[in-house]
Amino acid sequence: MHEIHDTTQPATSARLAILLRRATAETHEAVERLPLMTRLTSPTVTREDYLDYLQALAEVYAALEGSLLDALDEEIRNDLGVRPKLPAILEDLAEQGQPHIPRTSTQLAPAGSGAALGGLYVLEGATLGGRVIAKHLRRCLGQALGSTGFLDFHGEQSSAAWKRFASVLDSLPAHGRMDPAEVVSGARATFMAVHRMLESAGARNAPAPADRDPVGTQCPARRHLADAVPTIPED
Ligand code: HEM
Repeated sequence: MHEIHDTTQPATSARLAILLRRATAETHEAVERLPLMTRLTSPTVTREDYLDYLQALAEVYAALEGSLLDALDEEIRNDLGVRPKLPAILEDLAEQGQPHIPRTSTQLAPAGSGAALGGLYVLEGATLGGRVIAKHLRRCLGQALGSTGFLDFHGEQSSAAWKRFASVLDSLPAHGRMDPAEVVSGARATFMAVHRMLESAGARNAPAPADRDPVGTQCPARRHLADAVPTIPED
């Protein structure tokens, strides 16, 4: 259940990261409910489910990441500490013997640098939750999971990397370098594009019920992984 937050009010400079979390919470939950994602977070997850997820994420990052990064000043990119994540996804797939074959070379261009920053928030945040997913998959799949270079992108530095990202986000409007409303609307638009892409990837890859091993339960259920305590508390 979500409170209603008026994101049309001017954001205070200190709260952009929190505004973004609130403004995209509903879409995040919708993403988590997609079949592709519920298979991934299920106790009966298979290696194929993980590969389907990586293939879908490769499409998402190939379509979005380059143009989002290009739309930001190099200085802001460096301050945020963001590094492209598509190479890590491609390496994880190659390690699993399933190289990615791009379906489309379309790049979804953001409408300005504020929108691009909001879009990068979405892509960066995926690796934050990715660490939680990686732990679940490690328990369920063991060695077959491989190195999880994408899901565990920042490793032990995840919390520190996210805090740095969020504090730079928070500082930008105060310096007149970003309009918070544009950042929020860019994040929403990107998250909705991600939702659409994962929804259609999941529909393409849906396994026939008979393909799933009904006795494959190997790990404890975690019904709602995003119930994990957020790295950045709101208070
Ligand atoms: C089954 C799928 C997913 C699960 C279970 C999940 C889970 C989580 C969790 C547990 C967190 C909080 C982590 C923490 O604060 O330490 C989180 C944060 C986040 N996730 Fe996901 N996630 C999923 C998919 C995605 C996808 C596909 C994206 C975008 C491409 C995404 C974007 C984000 C963002 C932006 C945040 C940061 C929210 C904030 O501002 O605190 N997530 N996710």
